[in-house]
Amino acid sequence: MTEDVHNQNLRARRASSFGGHAGAYAEHRPDYPVAAARWAVEPVTDPSTSRVLDLGAGTGKLTEVLLRCGFQVTAVEPDAGMLAELRRRMPRVDAREGSAEAIPMPDASFDAVLVGQAFHWFDHDRALPEIGRVLRPGGVLAALWNRDDDRVEWIEGLQEVARGEAPGTRRYDQRRLPAHPAFGAWELAEFPHAQRRTADSLTATIGTHSHTLVIPADEREALLGRIRGYLASRPETASGEFDLPMVTLTVRCVRQP
Ligand SMILES: C[S@@+](CC[C@H](N)C(=O)[O-])C[C@H]1O[C@@H](n2cnc3c(N)ncnc32)[C@H](O)[C@@H]1O
Repeated sequence: MTEDVHNQNLRARRASSFGGHAGAYAEHRPDYPVAAARWAVEPVTDPSTSRVLDLGAGTGKLTEVLLRCGFQVTAVEPDAGMLAELRRRMPRVDAREGSAEAIPMPDASFDAVLVGQAFHWFDHDRALPEIGRVLRPGGVLAALWNRDDDRVEWIEGLQEVARGEAPGTRRYDQRRLPAHPAFGAWELAEFPHAQRRTADSLTATIGTHSHTLVIPADEREALLGRIRGYLASRPETASGEFDLPMVTLTVRCVRQP
């Protein structure tokens, strides 16, 4: 197998790794700041009546924030396990099976398409025209990522341990976003965010990251054990609850007329 094929297979396995752990995902992954969601939809003239698609919605972490903002939300998600968890948690939300490359919605049916922690999994050559199809002209596409704030020393150390020898843990680079003639230039903003954690619950959060889901069970246990050990060794995290400081990177671009 060539390295390219190996990397593509690994990427596909990681992209579809979440559903087997949907309950843990919903329990342990962070939500998003309301300010980030509002900034994402700002170019739309009347956000309060906006029809918003949460694409790659997972268990509905971003859906919940969008509902809190008062938007009319539709969720689309390809993974059956994640979709089932979303429907269980939010039975009133219009949640459909589909992907960024095949969105089961009519042309121009949304004012905004938002993507939480999933844009990097899309096949952009196919997804961008498809997102452009379901957005009305002047509508907005935005993607959000929660990042642990690695300017904090204990988090920098944690990331070194968490990366371990796990495969394919290179970060998606938000400075190199894909361009498409249907969309204007990308804008980027950062929002401070935090999640209340303990050493155990933070270890569980990292256990929902795709690079820890695709490795053999014994390697996964060893990796999570090293993370637990690291957190036990740090005064900031050794006992009780603490804030995990994060930054929510948000990018947006407008659908051209
Ligand atoms: C890290 S989870 C993020 C879930 C949710 N948006 C959140 O913020 O918690 C990534 C999600 O992207 C979904 N996904 C992977 N490939 C996708 C694709 N091509 N189109 C749409 N969603 C995709 C996965 O099934 C998974 O639910």
